[in-house]
Amino acid sequence: MAPGLLLVLALWVGCLPCRGREAAPTQPRVRCRASRYPVAVDCFWTLPPAPRSATPTSFIATYRLGVAAHGESLPCLQQTPEATSCTIPDVHMFSMVPYVLNVTAVRPWGSSSSFVPFVPEQLIKPDPPEGVRLSVLPRQRLWVQWEPPRSWPFPELFSLKYWIRYKHHGSPRFRQVGPIEATSFTFRAVRPQARYCIQVAAQDLTDYGESSDWSLPAAPSTPLGK
Ligand SMILES: *[C@@H]1O[C@H](CO)[C@@H](O)[C@H](O)[C@H]1NC(C)=O
Repeated sequence: MAPGLLLVLALWVGCLPCRGREAAPTQPRVRCRASRYPVAVDCFWTLPPAPRSATPTSFIATYRLGVAAHGESLPCLQQTPEATSCTIPDVHMFSMVPYVLNVTAVRPWGSSSSFVPFVPEQLIKPDPPEGVRLSVLPRQRLWVQWEPPRSWPFPELFSLKYWIRYKHHGSPRFRQVGPIEATSFTFRAVRPQARYCIQVAAQDLTDYGESSDWSLPAAPSTPLGK
């Protein structure tokens, strides 16, 4: 075996213990979401459990626009210093520079910071549509209606599009319709006696971010079979 390879192996093996120790992270794990774009970005974090944590950990959350160190740091608003979430109000839309969030966990034996760069538009994920309901129409049709999520502040300004997935009970797989911009949809030629599971998801019309989770299944707005 070449001496160079042996050396690399020895270094690699020699590094294992310290790599193992470093693998237990002490920084907060942060994720951010813009479910009420452009009013705010909401960030949440968790902290790996610490063996000696008798006192509750407090956090300092700040952000700035741009990665330059001289930029002005602003507080990301927390309910209490112990809260594991914060809110960045007044999102700067389509910023040319990313935001950088700094979440610092303050513990008796020291503090550790996490830095999260993000562009608000990429964090858009609406909450699921609400009030999803089904009506039975004549001639084997089903009408499903819903409302945009109430947390989405300006549905007229920042339009949403919707996906519908459906299956009749007993069917293993969902089928999907969409995207559509309306807040209702008519299914034709449905099986007269079958019960359907229908859910709706919302997504930013211009494809920023990701689509919402699926809504609650549609509830009948008139008793089925009447
Ligand atoms: C992150 O925030 C902590 C607490 O406010 C601060 O001490 C630290 O300097 C900040 N780090 C950077 C790179 O801004």
